[in-house]
Amino acid sequence: MPKAWVVRELGTPDKLHFEDVEPSPMSDDLVRIRVRAAAVNFFDLLQIGGTYQVKPELPFILGAEVGGDVEAAPPGSGLSAGDRVFALVSQDGLHRGGYAEVTHAEPGDVRKIPDGMSYEAAAAFFINYQTGWFGLHRRAMLQPGEVVLVHGGAGGVGTAAIQLAKAAGARVIATAGSDAKVAVCREMGADLAINYKNEDFVAAVKEATDGKGADVIYDPVGGDVFDRSTKCVAFEGRIIVLGFTSGRVPAIATNHVLIKNYSIVGLHWGLYRQRAPQLIPECTKALFALYAAGKIRPHVGRQAPLADAVTVLEEVASRKTTGKAVLTVERA
Ligand SMILES: NC(=O)c1ccc[n+]([C@@H]2O[C@H](COP(=O)([O-])OP(=O)(O)OC[C@H]3O[C@@H](n4cnc5c(N)ncnc54)[C@H](OP(=O)(O)O)[C@@H]3O)[C@@H](O)[C@H]2O)c1
Repeated sequence: MPKAWVVRELGTPDKLHFEDVEPSPMSDDLVRIRVRAAAVNFFDLLQIGGTYQVKPELPFILGAEVGGDVEAAPPGSGLSAGDRVFALVSQDGLHRGGYAEVTHAEPGDVRKIPDGMSYEAAAAFFINYQTGWFGLHRRAMLQPGEVVLVHGGAGGVGTAAIQLAKAAGARVIATAGSDAKVAVCREMGADLAINYKNEDFVAAVKEATDGKGADVIYDPVGGDVFDRSTKCVAFEGRIIVLGFTSGRVPAIATNHVLIKNYSIVGLHWGLYRQRAPQLIPECTKALFALYAAGKIRPHVGRQAPLADAVTVLEEVASRKTTGKAVLTVERA
């Protein structure tokens, strides 16, 4: 019987259960996927802890995106058994969720994997790049030649944002918390990468921009990083609020927003799926074109068998991974 990681109680990764889960009978409206690679996202940790904005009913299978092979698909979906696909999956009971050998997804959330892309890269391709594209283009209206500052630059969303900003013709400055992570930011294309543990990023950004600051700041970290970012945002700059890996949701001094003429822009990509789903295919098309042109490449910094999910989640929680971590399933 296929196995899956099930959240039965909220808490920490060690509370997860690796269980046999009977796939539900094939329904007329879902695609069944034999998972080959499941992405690990930082928000999986929040979901295990019950602190994420999306709170599935217990018990549920963890994991939001996979790469794999179609086992069965509804007629008219354009998909058929054997197709190599990547998919966004909801955490809904014990038949959906990505940390599993078999999962199910809505046909509209399933795409064929482009030629040459591995299952692991495909599992890492959906959320981080969609988030980066919506953040930089739709929310911050990034223009070629602008300066983008990417925090958490060596992380999952950070590595994607560096590549997307470079592909859009921006000059990219990235921050990270170790020399090894700074090297990853450079590999992703950052023009300047700062180890913020050794160097004040505010001073470094000002120096690199002749005192003007960054036009767009991509912030998945929050806390002090957000507070300090307001000191190096440019005139008419935009700070994109994406998440709070630091653990602190910062308060905003609106007088400061006024006196410096900058904007704070929120982004919850998942809400586009509900409120403006017609925009997602346009983004996917743009991302496929960038992939085909060799301008974006998911950085899979950690790969391990599905059975090792707890270890990998603990590594993500303790900032040991770079790029996206992916759990793999051998073909039976
Ligand atoms: N808004 C959206 O639509 C959206 C979509 C996807 C993800 N997100 C959010 O984006 C954030 C980043 O996700 P991710 O998958 O890129 O995570 P990740 O790969 O784990 O990277 C997060 C980075 O945050 C930095 N960080 C700073 N303080 C930290 C702390 N106390 N604990 C852990 N990391 C810390 C780390 O960089 P250093 O070690 O270099 O400091 C780490 O590399 C999460 O909050 C996630 O929920 C938001």
